[in-house]
Amino acid sequence: MIDYNPKQSIARNAKRNGVTEDAIRKYIHRNGIDRQADRLAQLVEHCRAIYKSNPDFTPTQLAKATKHDPKTIKKHWDYITGKIGTESSQKIQLREYNNYYATHPSVTEDLLKVETFSHDVLEPFCGGGFMADVIEAHGYQVERYDIVDRGNNKVADFSTLELPAGLYDIITNPPYDDHIIDHILKCISLCNKKVAMLLPLHYLTSRERYNTLFKPYPPQKIYIYQNRIIIARNGDFETYKDAGTNLAIYAWFIWEKGYQGDPQLKWILNENN
Ligand SMILES: C[S@@+](CC[C@H](N)C(=O)[O-])C[C@H]1O[C@@H](n2cnc3c(N)ncnc32)[C@H](O)[C@@H]1O
Repeated sequence: MIDYNPKQSIARNAKRNGVTEDAIRKYIHRNGIDRQADRLAQLVEHCRAIYKSNPDFTPTQLAKATKHDPKTIKKHWDYITGKIGTESSQKIQLREYNNYYATHPSVTEDLLKVETFSHDVLEPFCGGGFMADVIEAHGYQVERYDIVDRGNNKVADFSTLELPAGLYDIITNPPYDDHIIDHILKCISLCNKKVAMLLPLHYLTSRERYNTLFKPYPPQKIYIYQNRIIIARNGDFETYKDAGTNLAIYAWFIWEKGYQGDPQLKWILNENN
């Protein structure tokens, strides 16, 4: 199984995994990874860190300090300086930077046919609310957060968000970034009884994930999609209306607080046969 690092070149990823560059390219394609967006995200992350300690920097000074192209820095200035959520021309790109992939409502419907939750639910990475809307329509009360103001949510970085434990069950499709394990661990410790996460099936693999997440906190159930589901980049369901545009296979991972044992494996027979 390939352990892909978005911060490394294709050649380095290939070498580290002991596979060909072609195998890495196929992996990138299969998992819908956008290397250009990843690179921009890294540039912005780097610039934001330097800007934080030098808030008087002009774009030119920041470019000099970070050795990035001044034009790119000017283009993404609003985002680097933290003015996210404004009506800036960067808005569409910001969504990409934050790994915004919206889940088709039918996927949350599938979950709610087979699982029930506490009345109060937290959607910590709610995006445009495609999951939260369905959960609410089923009679639950949903608390919506996202790092970007998408008009339907409270704005917070989940890594630093402070909430009392035991208030909510949690249902989400989290951002697949470097913090994903921490995000999932935080959800498990915060939840009232249950966490449901939509994750690519290959998430089950990797030594790090096994040791830090699956071994100490085994999911109680895993519902594997028999077929592909629709996940729309930037919430653009017009462009991504076919399940075939998403090449990864997904599953619902269900954690019950305190569960120790082997996960039960179930299938969701979705209609895209
Ligand atoms: C994969 S999308 C899922 C959106 C929504 N859950 C859905 O399924 O339609 C992940 C969302 O997490 C948000 N996000 C990324 N990093 C975050 C963070 N540290 N704290 C809160 N939200 C974050 C992104 O803005 C994006 O909307």
